[in-house]
Amino acid sequence: MKRTWKNYLAIPFLIVAASCSQPTVSSEPEAHAPTMGWNTYNTFNLDINEQLIIEQAEAMANSGLKDAGYRYINIDDGYFGGRDPETGRLLIHPVRFPNGLKGLVDHIHSLGLKAGIYSDAGTNTCGNYWGKDSLANNVGLYGHDAQDCEMFFNELGFDFIKVDYCGGTTWQNYYSIGIDEEERYRQIRQAMDETGRKDLRLSVCRWNYPGTWVREVGDSWRMSQDINCSWRSIRNIIDQSLYISAYASKGHYNDMDMLEVGRTLSQEEDMTHFGMWCILSSPLIIGCDMTTMRAETLELLTNPELIALNQDPLGLQAYVAKDCGNGTYVFVKDIETLHGKTRAIALYNSTNEPQTIGIDYSTIELGGTVKVRDLFARADVETAADNISIEVPAHGTRIYRLEATQRIERSLYEAETAYLSEYQELHDAFSVATAYYEKDAACSGGAKVVNLGRKPKNDLRWLDVYSETGGEYEVTIDILPTPDALQISEWDSNPGGYQFFLSVNDGVGNRVRLDKDSTSATITISLPAGSNVVRLYDDRYLMPGIDRMTLRKL
Ligand code: GLA
Repeated sequence: MKRTWKNYLAIPFLIVAASCSQPTVSSEPEAHAPTMGWNTYNTFNLDINEQLIIEQAEAMANSGLKDAGYRYINIDDGYFGGRDPETGRLLIHPVRFPNGLKGLVDHIHSLGLKAGIYSDAGTNTCGNYWGKDSLANNVGLYGHDAQDCEMFFNELGFDFIKVDYCGGTTWQNYYSIGIDEEERYRQIRQAMDETGRKDLRLSVCRWNYPGTWVREVGDSWRMSQDINCSWRSIRNIIDQSLYISAYASKGHYNDMDMLEVGRTLSQEEDMTHFGMWCILSSPLIIGCDMTTMRAETLELLTNPELIALNQDPLGLQAYVAKDCGNGTYVFVKDIETLHGKTRAIALYNSTNEPQTIGIDYSTIELGGTVKVRDLFARADVETAADNISIEVPAHGTRIYRLEATQRIERSLYEAETAYLSEYQELHDAFSVATAYYEKDAACSGGAKVVNLGRKPKNDLRWLDVYSETGGEYEVTIDILPTPDALQISEWDSNPGGYQFFLSVNDGVGNRVRLDKDSTSATITISLPAGSNVVRLYDDRYLMPGIDRMTLRKL
């Protein structure tokens, strides 16, 4: 099925809203859970060879990792041998892979595994620029999309490709080719599709959230700079993941980068790393040496309950349900059934001290009796009837599956959980006039959305505003008159106050008006039963910062 922007919006809520006219998830054959596998780069960097990859593949097949769901053996940078100047054919490193790659891919396949390869959207690879790998110059896909895709996927039989961007950025290539990310990744996806293979996965590697177009081309996309094996790196990537849950949906995931689990982090940090990658629905690409893994690493990486959380059929990424303001957070997501009685939570402590982290079950929309299961310990636990409160060690995380007897209808929608149609992290948001999320301790939930409006697409959408029975609702929007020079000048030309529009399922816009001194406005809307999209927008003017929306059924 063609990936379209409309489908993107449809995915999270059409699972249950079969009455809507857009296609349902079940008709989307490519929708899969986050990719599980292993990649050469974290442990071996560019120093890779055929023998080591065979050994890793065999370790995956025989250690229990394959049985746990890991499938992909991905060859990263380091295999390139230049390009034939006459035919343009990509060459393979003659010393590291003297037999080429075909036999290696066949061997990986014979183990019941899949094989992944690496390239660049531009000319040279990052290993060429940063690692001085001279044979990785002029080996990127640029100018060779069809030729290389044919070789990778039909001739050699690879099933997956990670496409990097060093050769596309003017300062990391030697050609100053000046290409555009969206255009290049679309061309690459098209070349992949034209090989006739329907099962190929594309991992976009642009080191920050690239833009909402990426969902139409990528099975996953990096949203951060390269991970490294330090607590600081893990914490930073989680921090960058706080507000991007709306961009993940079944078959399309934010990629938090390859796992450093099993290397030099403490066991507590490894648990946080793996557990948060699971609940945030990141691909799980192991980065340690699988032939020498410690028992506790294998146990963590194969924990079936955490893997089930990551591979959950809904494909949702958890969002922040509570920012406790002291470096601790509660994340939540539905699992198993959308708007059902099963949810998963993570209590995450980013600080250097043990912290007690708690949340009322009603805050995460669960009521009645709540059964609690610790997914790390794989054991049921007792909590108070109406809340959970746990002491979490420094750098630690605890993850629970909650099963309640009642689901309460959601009434609070933080702006930072919403989808911004023009969201991107590659360009300066003011120069290109795109909205973004910003931490603000004065806001509900600890964050807000700013720089909305001025053009139709620069809007905010809560993609899944769910009403069990449908009906009339009082909607309150809390705003922040951000004291930003740009905004003040536009508002000054609009002295009556602020206004913007709110629509339901892209119907007629309701005007939301606020006096100059007020920070909230209430209107009445009608919501059909099921999932709805509530959109805030202003096609002409800059909008105030949006803090949250609250709903009250009338
Ligand atoms: C970039 C990518 C890494 C890895 C290296 C290889 O830095 O982000 O994941 O692929 O290139 O050189």
